[in-house]
Amino acid sequence: MREEIIYLLKLKDSPDRKALFDLANAVRRDNMGETIFIKGIIEFSNYCKRDCTYCGIRASCKVKRYRMEPDEIVEAAIDAAKHGIDTVILQSGEDPFYTTDIMIDIIKRIKIGAKKPISLSIGERTPEEFKLFKEAGASKCLLKQETVNPRIFKAVHGSDYEIRISLLKTLVSLGYIAGGGDIIGLPDQTPGDIADDIIFMRDNGIKMVGIGPFIPTKNTPLENHPVGSADMTLNAYACTRLAIPNVLMPTTTALGTIDEGLQYKGFEAGCNVIMVNFTPDKYRQVYRIYDNKRKVEFYETVHELLKRGKKLSFSVMKALKEEEMV
Ligand code: 5AD
Repeated sequence: MREEIIYLLKLKDSPDRKALFDLANAVRRDNMGETIFIKGIIEFSNYCKRDCTYCGIRASCKVKRYRMEPDEIVEAAIDAAKHGIDTVILQSGEDPFYTTDIMIDIIKRIKIGAKKPISLSIGERTPEEFKLFKEAGASKCLLKQETVNPRIFKAVHGSDYEIRISLLKTLVSLGYIAGGGDIIGLPDQTPGDIADDIIFMRDNGIKMVGIGPFIPTKNTPLENHPVGSADMTLNAYACTRLAIPNVLMPTTTALGTIDEGLQYKGFEAGCNVIMVNFTPDKYRQVYRIYDNKRKVEFYETVHELLKRGKKLSFSVMKALKEEEMV
């Protein structure tokens, strides 16, 4: 299996690659239908206690920091929900300012006010906290492994590899729809490592997968490391769709940052999700996890998807009709 995935990951533009994408597309359609799901992301804090070498909001990066007030977060989530989006994603750096109780309060208020599935993307917390967040109403949780190669993980992430992997497994056993994923193009990473990521996610009950190319970011230790391969990212989408047929898989903003058209190409390679940004404008510029991060706006995205003949969810279409946008 590993050797086959490596072969597919390396495919260049060719009839074989077209066949891979067509197959991934057919598997997506058969297992998940035609709908492209739109998730709304709120980046509520760019404080981070970690120092990941690839990331523009790493602790030692001197960037302007912000924290949204709980009221502002709830308000942004309700605004996103009004647009009919399919899930509210709460994302931040690893910021202990939001204590267990504060997070529980935010989750409960969003659950009541927005009536949408809530996905957490807040880095590592204890298993006990994740259990409480689940009870408060979060049903999904993203904690990308970034790479299952322990040596590379240690080099870029600094934190404990075993804890991260065991947390991801804990999320699955707590009943979360758990999200993993990796960065394509980390230093020393091989196609074999990426194949291992896909196999790991398949074997551990991961149901959401976010895969993006590495984007070099100024004032980070990896600022001169080359950008990750867009071709390999697309191939990884297709392989992931074949390995986990019912996966929820966004075509990522990182891919769209290389080129907007590439992000839409992800839908031809097995992706069925796109994340649009509902972070209030004044904070958004400062949430710079990588340079030139593409702004993915709701209306622009909807327009592009409809132009390409994509089917959107009932709730997005209903909200658009109410606003007389379609
Ligand atoms: N390039 C690509 N992806 C990055 N992320 C953070 N920094 C970068 C970068 N320089 C991704 C990580 C993280 C997600 C929120 O953003 O995978 O999980």
